[in-house]
Amino acid sequence: MLNIAVNFKREINIMEVKRLKTKGETMIERTEDQFWAYEIDENNSKEDLVLLDNVQFIYELSLAELELKALDVNFEVTNGLREFKILNKSNEQKKLIKRKGAYYKTVDGQLTDYFKIIQKNRTRSVNQYLTHWIYPYKGKFHPQMIRALLNIIGLNEGDTVLDPFSGSGTTALEAQLLGINFIGIDISPLCVIQGKVKTESIYFIDEIKKLKKEIFQNYSSNLFQTDENYYDILNNLSEDERIKNFYRLARLLAVSDNSRRKRDFFNSFIKNIDLMISSVEDFIRVKDELNLTLGNVKIEVGDSRNIKLSDNSVDGIITSPPYSIALDYVENDIHSLKDLGFDVLKMRDDFIGVRGNGRSKIELYNEDMKKSYKEMHRVLKKDKYAVIVIGNATYQGQEVKTVEFTIDIMENLGFKLEKNINKIIFGLYNVMKKENILIFKKVK
Ligand SMILES: C[S@@+](CC[C@H](N)C(=O)[O-])C[C@H]1O[C@@H](n2cnc3c(N)ncnc32)[C@H](O)[C@@H]1O
Repeated sequence: MLNIAVNFKREINIMEVKRLKTKGETMIERTEDQFWAYEIDENNSKEDLVLLDNVQFIYELSLAELELKALDVNFEVTNGLREFKILNKSNEQKKLIKRKGAYYKTVDGQLTDYFKIIQKNRTRSVNQYLTHWIYPYKGKFHPQMIRALLNIIGLNEGDTVLDPFSGSGTTALEAQLLGINFIGIDISPLCVIQGKVKTESIYFIDEIKKLKKEIFQNYSSNLFQTDENYYDILNNLSEDERIKNFYRLARLLAVSDNSRRKRDFFNSFIKNIDLMISSVEDFIRVKDELNLTLGNVKIEVGDSRNIKLSDNSVDGIITSPPYSIALDYVENDIHSLKDLGFDVLKMRDDFIGVRGNGRSKIELYNEDMKKSYKEMHRVLKKDKYAVIVIGNATYQGQEVKTVEFTIDIMENLGFKLEKNINKIIFGLYNVMKKENILIFKKVK
């Protein structure tokens, strides 16, 4: 047990975590191209279960508990609050938590798989490990929460989960890591590219690296000149859509960096390609180290109001629809969508929460979401769960009760609300983010 920790420590070449003792703060330092939020020492607590250091909110504790319940583990919280005692000790259950759990650092002093996965992080953000960070999509799920929810709704290797608003592909990657098959649709082609690149690139990293050499050897000087079309160059260099998607997204990252942060386009492009490749290689490494069986991933452009799946065909749904009219998803990614050559004006008509003007926007949202929830009900198997993460929006200073609306519609369709978890987060500068995690069971 100790050996595993020591070996892992040696292997990743652990660095010093500098402590500012006077303030009681610990800096998260970068070494070997990675950021480390945690110490891995040989004195891991021998308590049965220890929570990860980043678990801080009440909703996370609640999910951590639900996760244990779903894995049939009886437990008791110890005085330290971050350590749990397992009451029904069986090796089988401990193995399960170590392999699948989302909120635990150690089980019997042994590091969990999730702990090892999140060490492979090229960013400063603790939840943007592996390929999650690629592209700064607004409104991404917290991946740790998704891993927990996949466990909570009882999904196992070989099951299929659907996200009909798959966005940047958070559920896709987390399902894949747990060996759960994933089907995702999103109306935005930009989102579909993100999800695909994050989950598919591990299967052809050699070709990706080969193309990088070719691009830089032959085209670097004129790659971004106006008379040279980058996408035409890509089409000439490769026929494989998966590889082209990787290089499309690398360019779009630079487009986004340039439009949002005024970063130099070409420098940003080069830096991002290297980081993207390193992240994909991290993914391959951790998959091999932990002997993970990955789930299959299928992501397509599609409309959640008309899902192309048969009735009663999926084992679970985890999703987060637009929060009423809170965010204009077309406007938010306008630079990238235009760069890809899309007619953004035409596109708006299919985006839920964006259609229409003024008050009619909310009515159209409600109408569209009724259709989407009906579709979710149709494709989900009976007695299985649909998790909807959603918050209220504000329109002209007034709260739009999207959460209540959602519960109402879902219950009318034949879902039963099993849990309604408040997810309140206070951020910097007095910003409060309030959402609900709604767990429904299809009972009718
Ligand atoms: C809250 S975001 C999802 C974010 C996602 N959970 C993540 O982790 O990145 C909502 C998504 O709904 C998508 N969307 C809007 N209208 C849609 C429609 N008619 N069909 C499918 N997706 C749609 C948007 O493009 C957006 O990506």
